[in-house]
Amino acid sequence: MHHQDSLSRTRRLLLGGMAGAAALLGVPRRGLSAAAPEAAAETALTADQVFNIADFEALARAKLPPAHFGYVASGVDDDRTVGVNHEAYSHIQIRSRRFVDVSKLDTSRMILGKRWSQPVYFSAVSSMRAFHPDAEVGVARAAASRQIRMMLSTGASCAVEEVAAARNAPFWQQLYATNDWQVTEAIVRRAQNAGCDAIVLTVDVLPGRNTETLFRAMRQDTRVCTQCHVGNSHDMVGRAPLFAGLDVSHVTDLTPLNMSGDYLERLRKMVSVKFMVKGVVTAEDAVLALHAGADGIVVSNHGGRAEETLRSTIECLPEIVAAVGGRIPVFIDGGIRRGTDIFKALALGATAVGIGRPQAWGLAAFGQPGVEAVADIFTRELQIIMRQAGTPTLASINKDHLAWPKL
Ligand code: FNR
Repeated sequence: MHHQDSLSRTRRLLLGGMAGAAALLGVPRRGLSAAAPEAAAETALTADQVFNIADFEALARAKLPPAHFGYVASGVDDDRTVGVNHEAYSHIQIRSRRFVDVSKLDTSRMILGKRWSQPVYFSAVSSMRAFHPDAEVGVARAAASRQIRMMLSTGASCAVEEVAAARNAPFWQQLYATNDWQVTEAIVRRAQNAGCDAIVLTVDVLPGRNTETLFRAMRQDTRVCTQCHVGNSHDMVGRAPLFAGLDVSHVTDLTPLNMSGDYLERLRKMVSVKFMVKGVVTAEDAVLALHAGADGIVVSNHGGRAEETLRSTIECLPEIVAAVGGRIPVFIDGGIRRGTDIFKALALGATAVGIGRPQAWGLAAFGQPGVEAVADIFTRELQIIMRQAGTPTLASINKDHLAWPKL
């Protein structure tokens, strides 16, 4: 597969001059000042005038302090897996069918007992106050207005109860289990009490990840940020409201280093809502999670932020779909930026897709309206390709609608 120049898009956006896309879009540069609510007013465009998801990245870069943009942009090592996630979609072609009645489109689907109006959810993104003061509450309001599922991060900057009230519907709670079972139990219980209908255990974040682009950006911008870091702390456990009031003195890792199938079973028994595992990239681990009682698998490499595998999630998907064999839903995230990307993931057997960075870019650029605009673009683009490809329902999208000569 040809992953040309995948390193450089992130780095170019982070380090490059303003001859970049933001300037072309007519966005004034805010320099090093922290993101402020009035920032949206300075933007030449309104959120609904932005053409596509990639343009939101440039807008976010123009709005955010470098360290905060570095936080969202960063992968690990050379950021190549970040790029590969998206580029892999460009090597899959769509085989459109013409003689199909597409006068009525239906993008809805039953997922884990609930009807979703579209096969898209906002995946967990931590510390969203780094992008806009409305933070996760802004995302939740946007998700509510567009009827989109939301997965809330353990490291959210808003309290789970506050987000649940803004979303006003069941949501998924992402879980960094930590190495302290008492803390694990407490945060699971709190999220369940707040109304989550699934716990999504993230299994791909271990200590020592080399988020070099973030570190580089932090070196560029050393000011104290009290807006999103209480006491200027970068420690998620010390800062995130989900851990408030708990004794976290024994927490040393976000993920237990000895996580096994037995651990998954123990956690599955403790969780009283649905239980999913996020960060699976092989058939073997998908089967292990299934046997441990998982109700869903999320094929994810953390948006290229875990380890530099150079293996896109869309390349991981087929083996996992085959191994799971329809027994539980399989979700995927990473690099989804167009409606055609969603279409391809669904054609390869994904039940729905997760969106990571685009919601953060939308939030950074415009607050809640930016997240709504991001959702609207995905919705519109998915509908267009479904009509064009001759697939009026999600069930009608399958492998026959794809070709991949370069894979
Ligand atoms: C994430 N992601 C993430 N995942 C998770 O399970 N818990 C978390 O707290 C976070 N936090 C987080 C912060 C930031 C800034 C980013 C960019 C990502 C990963 C996220 O849920 C998702 O897997 C990827 O972001 C999907 O890839 P794309 O859409 O960003 O390419």
